[in-house]
Amino acid sequence: MALLVKNGRIVTATDDYTADIFCAGEQITAIGPGLSAPADAEVIDAAGKLVFPGFIDPHVHIYLPFMGTFAKDDYESASRAALVGGTTTLIEMICPARDDEPWEAYQLWRSKAADKAAVDYSFHMGVTRFDDRSAEQLRRIVDDGVASFKVFLAYRGALGVNDEELYRTLALAKQLGVIVTAHCENETLVAQRQAELLAAGHSGPEFHEPSRPTVVEAEGVHHLMTFAELTGASTYIVHTSCEEAIREAVAARARGVQVWIETVAPYLVLDRSFAERGEFEGAKYVMSPPLRERRHQDSLWINLRNRTISTIATDHAPFDFVGQKDMGRSDFTKIPNGIPSLEHRVNIAYTYGVQRGRFDLHTLVDACSTQAARLFGLYPRKGTIQVGSDADLVIFDPEYRGKLSAATQLMDVDYCAFEGMEIEGRPSVVTVRGEIQARDGDFVGTLGCGEQLRRAPTHF
Ligand code: URP
Ligand code: ZN
Ligand code: ZN
Repeated sequence: MALLVKNGRIVTATDDYTADIFCAGEQITAIGPGLSAPADAEVIDAAGKLVFPGFIDPHVHIYLPFMGTFAKDDYESASRAALVGGTTTLIEMICPARDDEPWEAYQLWRSKAADKAAVDYSFHMGVTRFDDRSAEQLRRIVDDGVASFKVFLAYRGALGVNDEELYRTLALAKQLGVIVTAHCENETLVAQRQAELLAAGHSGPEFHEPSRPTVVEAEGVHHLMTFAELTGASTYIVHTSCEEAIREAVAARARGVQVWIETVAPYLVLDRSFAERGEFEGAKYVMSPPLRERRHQDSLWINLRNRTISTIATDHAPFDFVGQKDMGRSDFTKIPNGIPSLEHRVNIAYTYGVQRGRFDLHTLVDACSTQAARLFGLYPRKGTIQVGSDADLVIFDPEYRGKLSAATQLMDVDYCAFEGMEIEGRPSVVTVRGEIQARDGDFVGTLGCGEQLRRAPTHF
């Protein structure tokens, strides 16, 4: 059915104006004042509302076998949660075990999304082993429309690659013109520090951060930058948590290294004191890299405002407090790492970014949508509002006031890391390719209508 959005304040990464938007055949077909629509069109009065392009989360885990368990969401719960929060496209990390064949892993991850997703989606192909056999499959996966890799410099013996594999992965990426996303922490330093802390009897979640301090992350970034410099590959540092890591990336950029920086919603509003909460509650706040001292939040916001950091993602990785996080009750290294935030990212960025005066609406759209579209080969189909783009729209109510809570969230996890946090504004109507999928906190759409998006190599 055709859709007419009337009188909204349209905000993109560059523009801010009031107009109507007409959508037909899944795309935006006209933008202007006083548009009319056929009698059977859906009409939304967006007066007093902001109209954003659908938000894109470029770092999500849904199907994730990890640390002896599985992340909680599936594509049904994740779609509902993403959509009520304004995220219309997500990019999931495929994380195969080292012995898995990449092509089979790719098909497995696709099967989890097919027939269930209500968001549009794509994947970053995790490279957890590199040899001639896997290289051939990686080429096929890129040919199939997956134009990015993911490497882990952390998680020794599980997802992590060694230096030879890292070099060869980056060299292949350069050849194919695909970007390599990377988790940057020095795994040897993490392993040594963990062992020392445990030997000293420090087993609680409050020791997670000391086991991987900021220099461990900065060293990981420095390491990746050296390899990127030598191979010429384009790189994207995921979940950057601290000033020291940003500095390493910026220094590399000044040497000509192609690197972009992502941060994630939890780092913007939570700090390490949350992981120090008693009664093991700190386990809810264990992710890697860890939550940092509060001063790093200022640095992240400033570097978002000046666009040194390109994107705000989530690194959504949901594990229940009861039954999963408590696997590490007597040993913090066994707490499944992850803080779920797929549903709350945009509301957090709007409230604590725009409303608190830390950045403007254009930066919100750029960091939460447009940059991800550009970097990962989705622009201008996604990431903006223009004729010819997919009709993915977020009609946002700036007057809404509420609180985040596990009691009301749609993510399939038994806690909310942002429990009680105030939100000023939220999506009122959310569309994917012209179909209304969410209204005022409720999912009203159709599961299974999400599409896998083909992405071509970007050859930056
Ligand atoms: O703690 C985290 N980040 N969990 C998810 C896996 C990853 O490293 O992205
Ligand atoms: Zn990671
Ligand atoms: Zn991740």
